[in-house]
Amino acid sequence: VKERIVQDKGLDHTLKLLEEGYLFIKNRTDRYHCNMFETHIMGEKAICLSGEEACKIFYDEELFQRKGAMPMRIQKTLFGVNAIQGMDNEAHTQRKLFFMSLMTDVHQKELSKLFEKEMEAAAERWVSQDQIELFREAKNIICKVSCLWTAVPFQESEVEDRADDFCSMIDGIGGVGPRYWKGKTARNRTEEWISGIIEEVRQGKLSVKEDSALNLIAFHREPDGNLMELQMAAKELINIIRPIVAISTYITFTALAIYEHPQCREDLLHNDDNYYEMFVQEVRRYYPFTPFVGARVHKDFVWDQYEFKKGVLVLLDVYGMNHDPVIWGDPDRFRPERFQEQKDRTYSFIPQGGGDPAKGHRCPGEGITIEIMKAGLNFLVNKIDFVVPEQDLSYSLSRIPTLPKSGFIMKQIKKTG
Ligand code: HEM
Repeated sequence: VKERIVQDKGLDHTLKLLEEGYLFIKNRTDRYHCNMFETHIMGEKAICLSGEEACKIFYDEELFQRKGAMPMRIQKTLFGVNAIQGMDNEAHTQRKLFFMSLMTDVHQKELSKLFEKEMEAAAERWVSQDQIELFREAKNIICKVSCLWTAVPFQESEVEDRADDFCSMIDGIGGVGPRYWKGKTARNRTEEWISGIIEEVRQGKLSVKEDSALNLIAFHREPDGNLMELQMAAKELINIIRPIVAISTYITFTALAIYEHPQCREDLLHNDDNYYEMFVQEVRRYYPFTPFVGARVHKDFVWDQYEFKKGVLVLLDVYGMNHDPVIWGDPDRFRPERFQEQKDRTYSFIPQGGGDPAKGHRCPGEGITIEIMKAGLNFLVNKIDFVVPEQDLSYSLSRIPTLPKSGFIMKQIKKTG
């Protein structure tokens, strides 16, 4: 067993994490030429890991647990207190299989069809507008689509505020002060809204499609035979709608990718499903979204000659792995063709977590994300024509989560398809 692991110099690195954002772990694994180091954040020791082998360990359910891993401030904004992200073992598997049953291929197609229809309708409006901001439009459209798909009733006039609340929950994670409070308020308001709707469904006052997420969550029974507690049912339905709304970030980065990488233009015009898939995979790799994921050591074990002690916090570097030269060769080039090579990327390409989603915590919404992104890409390339005016398209790697600053402004929009 190693005497010492690489230590991040200094007492507490919370401020450095806030300053360096997405690059916090990678700056250090690069500096110390290692895939593992020890640091201190938010008053406790944390081991940071990167690389495919480390990822295999991190997703070993016997070695790591999620209970107690997520800071309360993140549960109160992003995830919901005690929801699926913090569950372990049999209870987690049961809940996860239920989530996955809501996201079959048929469900995915249904959702992307709804998305296409709403994008077409939006384009009708855009042609008569001076300019639009893609992020703002996309979050509203996807929020609406996501409510339609899950069968959550809404008024057209409330869509923008609801969409903003879902976005604030996500934005709250990297913020202190006002951003955190905004996220928390948004979560409270949304939980109240959604639990009211679930209650109406349970009481028979509102009847919705039998196989909709709303109906299935409202009447889902826990392993003990009881209905899910109302507040928990609301959190889990939000755990479906909120991340779908978050795909608007990837739609915006997709537009940026088309714009920043004109060398891909020719291939995109051939409209080949295979190339579109590779392109969106490359967007998920190249552009920042999830910075890292966290877990706690479940039982003592030794890996790479280092002794992991029960209870210690461990962070796996998602952003860093997406830009790791060992995994990608030329990580800073945007090159969709790299995905042509068929290989097992279960533990090496992890923009939405690694391992087997049915067994561990990997995101169950990757299929949905890829379908919506492909539909968005097709729309931007084949359905409309537009001009990208002068604007600030830069995105900060020190802000978590991030986005092109201008939100991607488009002008002189014409329908072409
Ligand atoms: C979990 C990212 C879209 C539902 C996760 C995790 C990440 C992630 C990093 C955690 C992995 C881990 O803890 O090991 C993303 C990103 C998305 C996205 C970047 C793109 C916008 C979606 C969609 C849905 C979804 C569309 C649902 C329709 C969930 C759920 C979990 C999860 C329920 C918790 C799974 C568990 O704890 O077992 N996601 N996700 N996500 N995601 Fe996503």
